[in-house]
Amino acid sequence: MKINLKNKNVLITGAAKGVGRELSLAIAENGANVALHYRESEQEAIQLVKEIERLGVHATSVQGDLANYDEVKSMKEKLGGDFGHIDMIVNNAGWAQMKGFFEYEPEEWKREVDVCFYGVLNLVYEFVPSMKDNHGKFINIVGDSARTGDRNLIVSAAARNGAISFLKSLAKEVGRSNVQCNTISLGLIDQGEFDESIVNKIVKQYPSRRLGTTSDVVGAVLFMLSDEANWITGQVLSVNGGHSMIG
Ligand SMILES: NC(=O)c1ccc[n+]([C@@H]2O[C@H](COP(=O)([O-])OP(=O)(O)OC[C@H]3O[C@@H](n4cnc5c(N)ncnc54)[C@H](OP(=O)(O)O)[C@@H]3O)[C@@H](O)[C@H]2O)c1
Repeated sequence: MKINLKNKNVLITGAAKGVGRELSLAIAENGANVALHYRESEQEAIQLVKEIERLGVHATSVQGDLANYDEVKSMKEKLGGDFGHIDMIVNNAGWAQMKGFFEYEPEEWKREVDVCFYGVLNLVYEFVPSMKDNHGKFINIVGDSARTGDRNLIVSAAARNGAISFLKSLAKEVGRSNVQCNTISLGLIDQGEFDESIVNKIVKQYPSRRLGTTSDVVGAVLFMLSDEANWITGQVLSVNGGHSMIG
């Protein structure tokens, strides 16, 4: 998919690896300057900056724990200094523990809420006000569990469902300023980490009889960043091979 993101500055969180890396490359290939956020994957982020600069766009990296408001504020200050105004954000970072609720110790569940819910609020509070009146776009990436529930992702699913609701209300607040807020809800994306026998079992839950690929995610995100999606706001777009179908 080709769209025109020339002269747009896009911040991608959790950009150094996995889905975030593919999104960053695709967004840069479509002409945007990219700010690649990482938390721990510094070397991967530095390498990716070099790779993307060869495409002829501006790229930089920025570190921060999204769960920590002061660190998100510092990210904004750093980017404001050496990169410039952020037009669009793809919040791809996330953190979840896979276990049943009664296997948690009470002190273990807070971090998932801090990253998957408060991380969104921290980014919005710092970055969205300066997106106003310039076709700003905030895209939050979640898993389908946020909509359907999942007994093994019980805390992150709840936190992300809260983020969906938050972005709907925010869309109502900032729509008049031309800022769009949407969620992309993913089914399982195959990044080569599963054995064939496991994949064969899981795909039975998918009408499309396959897991997702990073290109499936890239296509949806590019569409949401494009001008063609300018009238879409406060929505959740499922990219999930039909795993859940929510009207
Ligand atoms: N892969 C799937 O099948 C799937 C399915 C449904 C939903 N999703 C969601 O889609 C997104 C991308 O998937 P993925 O598998 O590529 O992601 P991932 O590896 O689970 O996480 C992406 C990045 O999030 C960053 N991160 C974690 N905690 C953070 C924090 N406190 N502050 C800032 N950054 C933090 C990490 O960056 P560093 O490495 O730099 O520390 C990590 O590389 C995630 O949000 C994931 O939950 C994925």
